[in-house]
Amino acid sequence: MRNSLQFFWPQILCFILLTFQYEVETKSTIEACNASDSCTSLLSYVLPWDSKVSQIATRFHVNVSDILASNSLFPITSSSAHQILRAKTLVKIPIFCSCVDGIRRSMSTTYTVHAADTAASISEAYGGLVSIEQINIANSINGTNPLTSGDTLVIPLPCTCFNNVNNGETAVYMSYVVQRRESLSSIASKFGTTFSDLETVNGFWEATVDPGDILSVPIAACSSATLKWYDESMIVPNGSYTLTASKCIKCSCEPMDITMRCVPSGLDVPCYNLRCKQSNLIIGNECVEHSQTACNLIQCVYRGHRGGKILSSMKNSSYLQCPDNLCHSGASCWAFSSYPEDPFGMSPKSSPSLPLPVSKASLSASNGRLGQFLINVLQIFLFLKFILIF
Ligand SMILES: *[C@@H]1O[C@H](CO)[C@@H](O)[C@H](O)[C@H]1NC(C)=O
Ligand SMILES: *[C@@H]1O[C@H](CO)[C@@H](O)[C@H](O)[C@H]1NC(C)=O
Ligand SMILES: *[C@@H]1O[C@H](CO)[C@@H](O)[C@H](O)[C@H]1NC(C)=O
Ligand SMILES: *[C@@H]1O[C@H](CO)[C@@H](O)[C@H](O)[C@H]1NC(C)=O
Ligand SMILES: *[C@@H]1O[C@H](CO)[C@@H](O)[C@H](O)[C@H]1NC(C)=O
Repeated sequence: MRNSLQFFWPQILCFILLTFQYEVETKSTIEACNASDSCTSLLSYVLPWDSKVSQIATRFHVNVSDILASNSLFPITSSSAHQILRAKTLVKIPIFCSCVDGIRRSMSTTYTVHAADTAASISEAYGGLVSIEQINIANSINGTNPLTSGDTLVIPLPCTCFNNVNNGETAVYMSYVVQRRESLSSIASKFGTTFSDLETVNGFWEATVDPGDILSVPIAACSSATLKWYDESMIVPNGSYTLTASKCIKCSCEPMDITMRCVPSGLDVPCYNLRCKQSNLIIGNECVEHSQTACNLIQCVYRGHRGGKILSSMKNSSYLQCPDNLCHSGASCWAFSSYPEDPFGMSPKSSPSLPLPVSKASLSASNGRLGQFLINVLQIFLFLKFILIF
């Protein structure tokens, strides 16, 4: 606890606890910022009424596929967008969190006013993530400039980044509207965090929260930073996935141990190079090889993508004893005997789809040009000789 406090001390200093004065006094955690940097964050949106995924996407100006991914809804089919989610369902909305006038804020959502709308009904439509007062201030609405049907309003939404770190671990922050009969501890257990973490992140020293308060909840996340990927970095919150490499690869953050697991998405898009070189394993496959002294787990793992090509490599981890979950899998490395010592060694029968190595390609091109040059010189020489003879 002392460590985490020390770690957070600079952040705590930046906190401003804003209180808004209307019927209920609500608290909201604000992160000061002074740069043009941004991050991806989440909104926890409790559906005010039954809504299609596509309607939620439109309400927040977010892609349908991103909503499906953040909520671990798979597969993606042509009917996914029409799927109806029931009122009171908690939907995680991924939003782009930027720095506006010195505080973290998401300003990418707009709303077109309908005839019967009031600032209160719009606040309700957004699940209390934006207050009546914030709608009025952001859009200069007052007695002389009332809400008018057809107007396009900016909906400022709460978000925080805190460097995507919580207690030294990768995290994504989610703005959460406290519901009736909830406490810091019930919210903490709901999202796999702790009471003291919530207290520290939000600076609520009194440790009481009221319905309507907006908390910043750290969600553990998987990061590609330690996975030695080429040209790609990614943060995936616990219990969600991200599609990458032109939607060919689906990387999810496993809730059990917060590890990134990347497998072919199986979506109807053209995908190549899904197989690890010199093996029969495709990305995400693994097999177990028992020796007298050890249990070797051999995996084909995703390593990023470059120039339209998916990269992968074999990973061999040795265990003294097979971890329980592996022994039950019964996987065997039936095709593994041809696996060479050097996983990047040249294969005698390289795939015809591979482009010629650059050096070889330019060499043959220049050979061609040299040949043409020599033929031209010979022709001129013969021509001169012809003239001289006569
Ligand atoms: C603001 O910028 C200064 C210097 O550029 C930096 O030291 C400070 O940490 C920044 N503050 C925040 C809240 O980002
Ligand atoms: C939504 O998807 C389209 C196409 O896939 C992409 O170009 C666009 O950047 C996405 N928008 C957001 C907000 O992610
Ligand atoms: C209402 O807002 C407008 C700007 O949109 C401003 O000119 C006007 O003075 C405001 N009126 C009141 C009563 O605050
Ligand atoms: C990950 O999320 C699940 C629920 O989806 C939760 O039970 C678990 O505690 C979370 N893990 C961590 C480390 O936060
Ligand atoms: C994996 O590693 C172990 C120990 O380092 C070795 O004995 C085994 O042959 C390796 N397996 C493969 C397929 O490379």
